[in-house]
Amino acid sequence: MERKLKEVDAMAANHMDNGFYGQDIISVGQFDRTKLDYILNVADEMKVVVERFGGVNLLQGKILANLFYEPSTRTSSSFMAAMLRLGGQVIPINNVQYSSVTKGESLPDTVRTLESYADIIVIRHPEVGSAATAARYAGKPVINAGDGVGEHPTQALLDLYTIVEGLGEVGGLKVAMVGDLKFGRTVHSLTKLLVNYPVEFIFVSPDILRMPKDVLDVVDASGHLYEESEDVHDMIGDVDVLYVTRVQKERFTDLAEYDQVKDRYVVDPELMARAKERMIVMHPLPRVNEISYAIDNDPRAAYFRQMRNGMYIRMALLAAVLGKA
Ligand code: NCD
Repeated sequence: MERKLKEVDAMAANHMDNGFYGQDIISVGQFDRTKLDYILNVADEMKVVVERFGGVNLLQGKILANLFYEPSTRTSSSFMAAMLRLGGQVIPINNVQYSSVTKGESLPDTVRTLESYADIIVIRHPEVGSAATAARYAGKPVINAGDGVGEHPTQALLDLYTIVEGLGEVGGLKVAMVGDLKFGRTVHSLTKLLVNYPVEFIFVSPDILRMPKDVLDVVDASGHLYEESEDVHDMIGDVDVLYVTRVQKERFTDLAEYDQVKDRYVVDPELMARAKERMIVMHPLPRVNEISYAIDNDPRAAYFRQMRNGMYIRMALLAAVLGKA
C-alpha cells in the first residue's frame, strides 16, 4: 500500500528517521526485522518508565482519536492508557451508535472529522480493508486495531514481545496456533509476522476453520514449514508456543456450525501435563471455554502478561509514529 508521510508536528519531531514517523500501521507486512527490533526495544523502555514513574510526558499536547466500531476491552483501553501514560489525551468513540455513524456518515467523512481534532487515529471496524480505507482518506496517521477477519497488527506485535519475554528468542521455536484460524485476525497477523523468524508452524483447527489460503501462501513464499492438524493432543508435547483462539461466533452466518465447533479444544491441566516444562500458552483474550481457569496460575500461562504487554507496545507505537521515540 501507499506509504505517505503523514502530517505530524514536524517542529516537535526529534526522531523522524525511525521508520515509523508519520506512517500508518495497517498490516504486519510493513515490518521487517530492523523495525521489529526497534519497536520491541522501545516497548522495553516504556515498561521501565511505567514501572518506575507511571509514565512520561512525551506526547503532551497530542490527541488520539480511538474509533471502535466493534466491541473491545483490551485493545481500546490499552491504547487509551498508552496515550494517557505518555501525557497525551484521548477522544474515545466506543459507542458508534451514539455518533453520526448512526445518521449514515461514511467512514471517510468520520475519519476526516476526527483528524481535524486529533493527531492520530486508531480504528477497529468489521470490514476487511477498512483501516486501509481510513488511512487513504486521512492526512494523519491511522493505526489498525482490527479490520474484521483481516489483520490485527498491534496484537501481533504484543504477541511477539510476549514470546521474546517468555522464551528469550523466537528462532527455532515450534509455534502451534489452535482454534478458529479462519476468522481469527490475531493468528493471521501473528503468522505473517513470525515468518520474519526461523520458526515452525502447526495450525490446529476443525476443518471448517482452517487457516486461509492467503496466509498459508505467505508462509509458503517465505520458505517456512507448516503442518495442519485437527488434534491438539498429538503435538502438545513438542510445542514451545501454544497460541489458543476463541471461536469467533460473531463471524458465523450459520450458528449451528458454530455450535458444532465451539468447544472443540480446551486447554486444561490434563493437556498441560503433557506439554513441555519450558513453553508458553497464549491467548489474545477474551476466552470463552477454550482455556480452563485451572491453568491460570501455571507459570506457562502467558495470557495475562500478553495483556499487560499490549500497553507497552502501544506506547512504543504511538511515540514512534508521532516522532517521539
Ligand atoms: C481479539 C480480537 O479482537 O481480534 N481480541 C483482542 O484484540 N485482544 C481476539 C478475539 O476477539 O477473539
